[in-house]
Amino acid sequence: MIAVASDHGGLELKNAVVESLRNQQIECKDFGTDDSTSVDYPDFAEKVGKAVASGEVKAGILICGTGIGMSIAANKIPGIRAALVHDEFTAQMASQHNNANILVLGGRLLSPEQGVRLVDVWLTSSYEGGRHEQRLEKIARLE
Ligand code: RB5
Repeated sequence: MIAVASDHGGLELKNAVVESLRNQQIECKDFGTDDSTSVDYPDFAEKVGKAVASGEVKAGILICGTGIGMSIAANKIPGIRAALVHDEFTAQMASQHNNANILVLGGRLLSPEQGVRLVDVWLTSSYEGGRHEQRLEKIARLE
């Protein structure tokens, strides 16, 4: 199960991501937002971040206008490694090197097709472990 949420700035891409996941029979929980009314992105980062950190879902996707606010907010939650990615390389590295449990996208920077592609790259890449493990442990000790 993947938790997905956006603010108004990420709404169009969030809806495209949810549709893509469901078309691929990947279970997802849509935490909103549901319309273009202006909302505060930390409220949505909190919902998805807590669902991931508690183990209720295995991963999350957060989308705001730039992705910056969502990544700052989600990374305040212990256990969250939220990665803001802009292209296929960073989406792949977010899995392989950082074992990111939340992918963050900028809805005003990416077309729906580009954003959906980055989600697919992230989901089909695997954490490599090894030398990266001690680095993630050091990140956890900063919490
Ligand atoms: C909302 O206008 C915008 O600030 C938000 O979507 C995001 O880009 C914040 O980082």
